[in-house]
Amino acid sequence: MKPINIGLMGVGTVGGGTATVLKRNAEEISRRAGREIRLFMAANRDLARAREVVGDGVPLVDDAFQVVNHPEVDIVVELIGGDTIAKELVLKAIDNGKHVVTANKKLLAMHGNEIFARAQEKGVMVAFEAAVAGGIPIIKALREGLSANRIEWLAGIINGTSNFILSEMREKGADFGDVLKEAQALGYAEADPTFDVEGHDAGHKLTIMAAIAFGIPMNFDNCYLEGISQLEGKDIQYAEELGYRVKLLGLTRRTAAGVELRVHPTLIPEDQLIANVNGVMNAVLVRGDAIGQALFNGPGAGALPTASAVVADIVDVARLLTSDPEHRVPHLAFQPDQLQNLPILPM
Ligand code: NDP
Ligand code: HSE
Repeated sequence: MKPINIGLMGVGTVGGGTATVLKRNAEEISRRAGREIRLFMAANRDLARAREVVGDGVPLVDDAFQVVNHPEVDIVVELIGGDTIAKELVLKAIDNGKHVVTANKKLLAMHGNEIFARAQEKGVMVAFEAAVAGGIPIIKALREGLSANRIEWLAGIINGTSNFILSEMREKGADFGDVLKEAQALGYAEADPTFDVEGHDAGHKLTIMAAIAFGIPMNFDNCYLEGISQLEGKDIQYAEELGYRVKLLGLTRRTAAGVELRVHPTLIPEDQLIANVNGVMNAVLVRGDAIGQALFNGPGAGALPTASAVVADIVDVARLLTSDPEHRVPHLAFQPDQLQNLPILPM
């Protein structure tokens, strides 16, 4: 059977991790997908750096439109980031009838309503497990594992960079700026790290989870955002003396009046599990009417953990492509034609 061809756009932290995982676990991944998964071509601005990662056998281009327009590419993997060129590329890929895998939470939180409507119209999948909480399969959990539940609320540590900074400040008395630089060097931070420390990145992820959990449109503009940049070492120390940990939480819940979306630093009693989630780890606590509370915990950023989620989505799409074409139904975690019209509470 013909291999499934992957067109990778962006060979940076996550793109590099994805190329590595696809190569390292090629046999298992292809077996699980039901067909050979082949890295067919890749695009990156810096070709020399990308070449070191993807090796000699993969054609490299510096114009990512060549990937979305290539007739032999089956799945486009967008790992460039941002919502300018990435948006044009994703919409073009969809228009060309290609399935898309992306880790780009900003793109989906800001333009997901338009992107998913286009995907539904064209009958293609847009998969985005890596966009929320890095390696934790929280999108699949909300979409599949918890699909029997009426979700009441969810709350989580969903920015690895902020959690890393808060943990290092508490454990080692480290300086905010120094730890942020370390998070950047480790590949955890966004291209513009103010997105991490001012709560925007957590807001993007919360927007996406709320849309899936409650079946509502993406509502990033109505999300209250407050980051950790105003916190000082002494705030964290005082909290500790009182028996609390400071965590940047994203919280969303439905109330009788509507859905609430907020991101802010929160005091959590130190005996709670989520208070002990440290470093780059993320955790999402979900309350459903049938399951009660469930906690999902794991690495929230970094090359290989995020690649784990990207490749899981590739396998998911590949399974669809391997199924009988006459009975193929692309599944979207976010379905624009099935949304509820719940009011969103003002900030
Ligand atoms: P990087 O900056 O490390 O990688 C982005 C890559 O895209 C770079 O190699 C860059 O090349 C390339 N690029 C930029 N513009 C273009 C273009 N126009 N054409 C071709 N290539 C281009 O970012 P990350 O890998 O960290 O993040 C990628 C995406 O994944 C983002 O949406 C991010 O939010 C998301 N994400 C990141 C996680 C992480 O842990 N880092 C975790 C989860 C999601 P060059 O360097 O030459 O400019
Ligand atoms: N900058 C993000 C974080 C990457 O620190 O959580 C993972 O989405």
